[in-house]
Amino acid sequence: MAKGLVLGILIGILLLVGSAYLYFSWGFAPVATSAAPMPFERKLAKAAQHAYLDKLPHPQPLVPADEANLIAGAKVYKEHCAVCHGLPDQPKSAVSQGMFPKPPELFHGTGVTDDEPWETYWKVENGIRMTGMPGFKGQLSEKEIWQVTMLVKNADKITEPVKKELLAGNSTPMSMAMPDMETKPAKETKPMKETKPAKK
Ligand code: HEC
Repeated sequence: MAKGLVLGILIGILLLVGSAYLYFSWGFAPVATSAAPMPFERKLAKAAQHAYLDKLPHPQPLVPADEANLIAGAKVYKEHCAVCHGLPDQPKSAVSQGMFPKPPELFHGTGVTDDEPWETYWKVENGIRMTGMPGFKGQLSEKEIWQVTMLVKNADKITEPVKKELLAGNSTPMSMAMPDMETKPAKETKPMKETKPAKK
């Protein structure tokens, strides 16, 4: 009786592992970014992320959310984040629209304004595996990561100077991806569209 039960459980496990293997090896798993998600994909990924993040220390922000830090954060953001996460009142880039999962628009709706700063800091430093969200450890300093964290945490209440900094400059990946973007170039470059001739 007990023997039969053990055998039954073993066969059950083997069938489960076997069908999961065949799902991948026979090409049923989604590969394209436009394909539908795997069964339970989002749920499992979120559960894994929360379980992991809950175990980590929750440090306090290293910088206050004052204007100087938010402007510094805006400089980081437009260079390293905007192409995926978008800018205030700007259309989405082609890059962001071709991704799976879609990067959330951090200056639209809630973004991550309701997340704790430590959580956002961790995500920017370490990235999120199999999503396209890069980890910036070693590429940005701790201070820069906190500055950009405070910026997106306060994305719903940025001041005009911060917004101006976000939208200024046209040598960022965002504006290269989106040539129609209205920018205030830091340096005069050849305009894409016919506008007023540059003052000399
Ligand atoms: C190549 C595209 C790409 C770049 C560049 C990028 N991200 Fe992301 N990011 C993503 C994607 C995709 C996700 C969604 C991951 C998911 O669904 O779990 C994400 C998720 C996030 C999240 C979590 C959002 C949430 O709702 O929990 C934060 C915060 C974030 N990114 C901040 C940044 C910051 C700050 C930068 C720049 C320093 C940046 N990202 C650069 C693609 C990108």
